Amino acid sequence: MKMDVLLGLQWGDEGKGKIVDVLAPEYEIVARFQGGPNAGHTLEFDGIKHVLHQIPSGIFRSQILNIIGNGVVLDPIILKKEIEGLGKFSIDYMKNLVISKKATIIIPTHKLLDAAYEKSKGDKKIGSTLKGIGPTYQDKIGRSALRIGDVLGEDFQEKYNTLVEKHKTILSFYNFPLDELEGMEKQFFESVEFVKGLNLIDSEYTVNDALQSGKKILAEGAQGSLLDIDFGSYPFVTSSSTMTAGACTGLGVAPARIGQVFGIFKAYCTRVGSGPFPTELFDDTGEAMRKEGNEFGSTTGRPRRCGWLDLPALRYSIMINGVTELFMMKADVLNIFEDIQVCTHYELADGTRVDRLTYEIADSEVKPVYKTLKGWNCSLEDVRDYADFPQELKDYVSYLEKELQVPIRLVSVGPDRTQTIKR
Ligand code: GDP
Ligand code: IMO
Ligand code: MG
Repeated sequence: MKMDVLLGLQWGDEGKGKIVDVLAPEYEIVARFQGGPNAGHTLEFDGIKHVLHQIPSGIFRSQILNIIGNGVVLDPIILKKEIEGLGKFSIDYMKNLVISKKATIIIPTHKLLDAAYEKSKGDKKIGSTLKGIGPTYQDKIGRSALRIGDVLGEDFQEKYNTLVEKHKTILSFYNFPLDELEGMEKQFFESVEFVKGLNLIDSEYTVNDALQSGKKILAEGAQGSLLDIDFGSYPFVTSSSTMTAGACTGLGVAPARIGQVFGIFKAYCTRVGSGPFPTELFDDTGEAMRKEGNEFGSTTGRPRRCGWLDLPALRYSIMINGVTELFMMKADVLNIFEDIQVCTHYELADGTRVDRLTYEIADSEVKPVYKTLKGWNCSLEDVRDYADFPQELKDYVSYLEKELQVPIRLVSVGPDRTQTIKR
């Protein structure tokens, strides 16, 4: 059996949580492989809305084993709160949730460092979620981080102290106040006690044993390909590998064991935080998109920047991930427009047109070149079958398939589980 991967092709918030929840019944295991509480994955069903940050989005399906993989950076404080928040849904997390002992721990000073680094960057700040993601991955790569398995050791406090001393030296360089640290540490150690009681495992064995015995696994990406540490709009990226290859290292699965790669994209684009966004709209159209799509961050509540779909960027993401099927989200948000624009090329300062995301493009001011398509301009609320789609929406889907050379197998027309049309 091979492992399927589902990931975002834009700048995150494409609707990954919703679709993992929709697809979960077809799988036995759902596994997160990177990122941490910077993610906010929203699920809606039975009139209730849930936002998950670190727990995989298969958690509401009782037969699914949810794995937090080794590639994840985990905040024990947030994990404890998330699990407690699930209390009212009678979820058996001792049975349905396991955590890799090799996942990296976010400690309180990682969050302070995140804030200190951002402050020092002034108007060049990344727009980090301030969850400590960058500093934690820095320590992981720098070989000084703490891992989940460490909480079980006698010398955990000692290892913690060594790391905190190092962080305090850096924080004093930035003149960053430590007033909040004591309170944060109290919460942290209470949460670590809680984490000790969870199912901590060597998840690479669980994953590979499951594949060997024919079980189906879905790897759930966080963030999006354009925020990838290597291929995103560096330095305005997150600190992990958000692409298919990240699912291999973040779970311990060999590349030859990757099956389908489901690439999720919005029918338009959004971005939260700083960095280039060629098709961003600063006018009433952008404002209307934000309002119609309720484009405010699931983790930080920040307004998301909005703009038209960007084909060169999408093609790039499809290429680096080896996407086999596309899922188009939030088609209903475009109901309000008479015309829909799609960026086909970028125009450089000297007037030449390009359709590749080269090293230079990421840094320069480019002008998007648009193709205009006719909008459907009607509600999709009651549509439950592809055959009932307005012709203009079918034309939009066909146009994108032709341009992207990958089939669009699913179209989402609302936040609820049921508002999902498979083709
Ligand atoms: P994720 O991070 O990729 O899981 O996405 P988020 O949960 O951060 O953001 C997606 C938002 O869009 C959430 O509020 C979802 O409830 C909502 N959503 C998902 N699919 C659709 C859709 O097809 N239409 C509309 N209108 N909203 C959607
Ligand atoms: P999901 O999984 C959207 C963005 C931040 C910032 C940059 C770096 O919900 O799609 P970080 O906290 O990682 O150091 O921030 O990345 N970012 C996201 N944007 N969705 C996310 O996750 C994001 N996670 C991080 O806004 O620009
Ligand atoms: Mg999100």
